[in-house]
Amino acid sequence: MKRLIFAANWKMHLSPDAARRFLDVFLQGYEPADDREVWFFPSAIALEAVVRRAVDEPGIVVGAQNVHWELKGAFTGELSVPMAKEAGARAALVGHSERRHVFGETDEETGRKVKALLDHGLTPMLCVGEKIEQREAGETLTVVERQLAVLAEYEPDTLERIVIAYEPVWAIGTGKTATPRDAAEVHAYIRGWYADRGVAPEAARILYGGSVKPDNIAALVSEAEIDGVLVGGASLHPVDWAGMARAGLD
Ligand code: PGA
Repeated sequence: MKRLIFAANWKMHLSPDAARRFLDVFLQGYEPADDREVWFFPSAIALEAVVRRAVDEPGIVVGAQNVHWELKGAFTGELSVPMAKEAGARAALVGHSERRHVFGETDEETGRKVKALLDHGLTPMLCVGEKIEQREAGETLTVVERQLAVLAEYEPDTLERIVIAYEPVWAIGTGKTATPRDAAEVHAYIRGWYADRGVAPEAARILYGGSVKPDNIAALVSEAEIDGVLVGGASLHPVDWAGMARAGLD
C-alpha cells in the first residue's frame, strides 16, 4: 500500500499561541488513516507547542524547518539537531528553495545537514527543484541530479530513511503548479536514481510541493509517482488543511 505524507511547511508563520489554536481546530477535522501521515514543520519557536498538542495523535509527525550541522557552538541564530530532537522533532526540512535561494545555502551544506540528522535518528526531507530559467533551458533533471548528489555516499537502507520533496522553484508561492504529469516525470527520474543505488521503487518516498491547494491536491496524490505533498500557504488554514489531509479518502 502506498503510504502518503501530507506535510505542512509553515515557514515564518504561526506563533506558539497561533499554532495551538490551529491544532485545536485542525484536530476536530483530522481523520487518521492507515495509508497516510500528516507532518508539521512549524517555526523553531512553535515546535514544542505543536509537539505537545500532537504527540498523542496517531499519524502525526513534527519536524524542524532547518537545522545546523554542528552539534553546538558559536552559531548565533541556529538550531542544532540534538536541540530539535529534544523538543520532539522527528524530521527536518533540508535545502528548501528559500534556504537555497534566499539564504544562499549550498549543496555542501545540505549534505552536512542530512548527515547530522541521520546520525541522530531524525528523518531528513531533502528538497530539490529547478528555477524557471533552468526548466526552460531543459536543465531540470541536471539540477535535480546535482542536488541529489549529496546522498551518493549512502547505502540503500540509509537512503530509504530520507524523504525527497520535489519542489520546482517557479511553483512555490506563485499559484503555478506543475501538472501531475510534469511532476511525475521528475519523480520517476528520482525513483530511478534511488533504484540505481539499490532502493526498491516502493521504498523511495518522493513528495511534490509548489502551490498545492484544496482544488488540485486530489489529482496530485492520485498520481502513482507522487507519495505525498509539501504544502506552504494552503497549510496555514486549519479547516482547509484538515480537508486536504483527507484527499482521496472521501
Ligand atoms: P507553497 O509552498 O505551497 O506556498 O507554494 C510550498 C513550499 O515552499 O514548501
